[in-house]
Amino acid sequence: MATSNGAFLICDDLYKIFKVADIEVMALQGLDLTVKRGELVGVVGASGSGKTTLMNVLGGLTRPSAGQVIIDGKNLLKLSTRELTAYRQVEVGFVWQQGSRNLIPYLSALDNIKLPMTLAGGAGKQNEVRARELMDLVDLSHRYDHKPLQLSGGEQQRVAIAVALANEPKLLLADEPTGELDSDTSDQVYELFKRLNRDLGLTICIVSHDPLIAQHVGRVVAIRDGKLASETVKRRRPHPKSLPDGSVSTRPQDEGGTSITESWDEHFEELIVLDSAGRLQIPKQYREQLGFENRVEMEVTGESILIRPAKNLDDTSSQGEIQLEREIPVDEMGSRPRLLDLLRRKS
Ligand SMILES: Nc1ncnc2c1ncn2[C@@H]1O[C@H](COP(=O)(O)OP(=O)(O)OP(=O)(O)O)[C@@H](O)[C@H]1O
Ligand SMILES: [Mg+2]
Repeated sequence: MATSNGAFLICDDLYKIFKVADIEVMALQGLDLTVKRGELVGVVGASGSGKTTLMNVLGGLTRPSAGQVIIDGKNLLKLSTRELTAYRQVEVGFVWQQGSRNLIPYLSALDNIKLPMTLAGGAGKQNEVRARELMDLVDLSHRYDHKPLQLSGGEQQRVAIAVALANEPKLLLADEPTGELDSDTSDQVYELFKRLNRDLGLTICIVSHDPLIAQHVGRVVAIRDGKLASETVKRRRPHPKSLPDGSVSTRPQDEGGTSITESWDEHFEELIVLDSAGRLQIPKQYREQLGFENRVEMEVTGESILIRPAKNLDDTSSQGEIQLEREIPVDEMGSRPRLLDLLRRKS
């Protein structure tokens, strides 16, 4: 079970099975995820690993096949269809990769933002004021009346973010929001997400194919085969003080006994997720490189566990050997009796 300690979002052993004709596809296979309130999280993973399915589940667009999803104390699986619709309209905002999916082409930017407010029952004048505020928030005060096709790709995504924020959601979900943008424009969109996270305290999950997303978010979770496989976290380590001649001292302390580390260096570390049942995923690349198949040997070495490919799996005689050594006593002559003799003796 994912920990619930102060968490805003908890996915616990989540499964989603799609059935197409007679074939079942397991898009999510026991996924555990915990996100704190006000966190900015990146979600990465290969194509088909289950990222969009997860976003759809979190957004109340898809009901999972099994498991639990709790968002801000609300168990999404227990909501009625009507409650789930209200959740989608008010409590969560979406930004998709394709601008066409986010915005209605024949409405101006302001009218696009007003639409979800109207659908949620908001009054006319208030909607207009809030829509203008949101356009200002995403730095598009000069584009109120532009229709989507009269905006650049980056501007369209910024309007899409404003639309997603229209009903003041607590959670913002973005599925590859920069997938169709060049790197400079992507950076501007990420900057906007960061600002919203920092200034509004909004909890944000961003799906991305961009390996550099770790630079923009606090934590990156990687999904592999419908399960959380690893997390990349930002760590700080002491930055060694440079000496006047340009060399770098590695001494831990100077003569006076004071620490020579004056600044800190930020770096990223990928941690493999170990679930509550003790399962972890060994990356495919490592398994292939070291010839791991479906059995491994484990050994505790001090504070570590060594995992190596199991040897002689096909050699059943060697497995028998282990059995014999463990269970069959050695006779007075110091040699192990033949199995047949032993059976004869037992009978
Ligand atoms: N509505 C559906 N019906 C049947 N299978 C589906 C459906 N939606 C997703 N899948 C399958 O579930 C798996 C996960 O799909 P998903 O769209 O979540 O992947 P993804 O990680 O978002 O991939 P991508 O990076 O390509 O967007 C895939 O094998 C996909 O074919
Ligand atoms: Mg996807």
